[in-house]
Amino acid sequence: MRRSSQDARRDPRVLLCVTGGIAVYKAVEVMRSLQKAGCDVRVCMTAEAERFVAPLTFEALCGHPVADDVFDDRESYIPHIDLAEWADVACVVPATANVVAKLAFGLADDMMSTTLLALPAGTPLLVAPAMNVHMWLNPATQHNVQTLRGRGVRLVMPVSGRLACGDVGQGKLASVDAIAQAALFSLLSKERGSDLAGRHVLVTAGPTHEAIDPVRYIANESSGKMGFCLAAAAAARGAEVTLVTGPTTLGDPAGVDVVHVTSASQMHDASAAAFQEADAAVCAAAVADYTPAKPADHKLKKAFEPMDRIDLEPTADILAELSASRGDRVVVGFAAETNDLAKNARAKLERKGCDLIVANLVGGPDSAFGSDTDQVSIVSAGGSDDLPRMPKPQVAHAIWDAVVRLWNQREARR
Ligand code: CTP
Repeated sequence: MRRSSQDARRDPRVLLCVTGGIAVYKAVEVMRSLQKAGCDVRVCMTAEAERFVAPLTFEALCGHPVADDVFDDRESYIPHIDLAEWADVACVVPATANVVAKLAFGLADDMMSTTLLALPAGTPLLVAPAMNVHMWLNPATQHNVQTLRGRGVRLVMPVSGRLACGDVGQGKLASVDAIAQAALFSLLSKERGSDLAGRHVLVTAGPTHEAIDPVRYIANESSGKMGFCLAAAAAARGAEVTLVTGPTTLGDPAGVDVVHVTSASQMHDASAAAFQEADAAVCAAAVADYTPAKPADHKLKKAFEPMDRIDLEPTADILAELSASRGDRVVVGFAAETNDLAKNARAKLERKGCDLIVANLVGGPDSAFGSDTDQVSIVSAGGSDDLPRMPKPQVAHAIWDAVVRLWNQREARR
């Protein structure tokens, strides 16, 4: 099984470590999600996890035997070392309080803990805890979590809700999407390391909803995916990230400070506040340009209050405002266009006064809206970098690469 790091181009490899909690069944979905994204997944299970879901479920779906015995030498002579060296990233999903403690103490008393202790330096480790709220809040667990974090382990934090035991509180496994996305970003950021560590970045995302009355609003087709990918990519590269997002159906990305807003005016206020601490802003939100001037405070009745006319007033242009006050900081905008992409993007770069415009086509069969891939050009005063169609996580990394280049250029000039 052992292969050298000089393998020709190959699928990214994820070691999925499954421990014994009721959320085990969700690990199957995480595996499927990673496979859909092109990953080769191998699974390691504890004896307790195998009491919840049979290894056969994982084996049938991933096409590899489940690793659960340090002394099983059918696949390799030293299974825990080979498996640890095989992985590009390791994820513990779900992680019980016990395995969190074992990881913190460096115990190695079964196949999983031994393999995780043998992970080579530089292989990202992602831990998604799930447990009873009191076990989670117990100072021992919290101390162990901090220990792991201090060692660079990425925590995909549990969320609040009704737990399997009936208690309500924090302890539910994070969403399948949030875990899979965090794993993918760890893979992509591995080669870039923590090049955004010490930086604070602001990302805006999603559509805005402009109220007509308490139940009706003006919105647009933005899914928020690109902005969420940007936030997750920056977090994976070590940045402190504030994501200001309009309404979307996406789960909050791991390790990101998320500010949920509804209207353009709320997005403006939240972004202006966050930008004060930021070194860069990427405005990926599809902000409404106009908002109803006088939203009704009650549901309009068609029989008495005809809606054949809604008076609109312009919203504040967040990107233009941030650009005007940026100083040495980097500000990036998006141009979502249905036609004349290059011309419109360049005009937008000048009009908004930002450093870069990420231009993409929307509408039609190749629309970026809602899609998992995007084909963008990164336009600057000096020229345009036309990128191939790529998954949005990769586009996000390319945008941060461009931001890093600008920071470096500015620092070199000082
Ligand atoms: N933007 C913003 N605040 C607004 C409107 C837009 O911050 N009130 C930002 C978007 O986040 C994006 C960029 O401006 O980064 C371009 O958005 P777009 O809607 O394409 O541009 P508009 O200024 O609305 O221009 P037009 O509608 O003429 O294309």
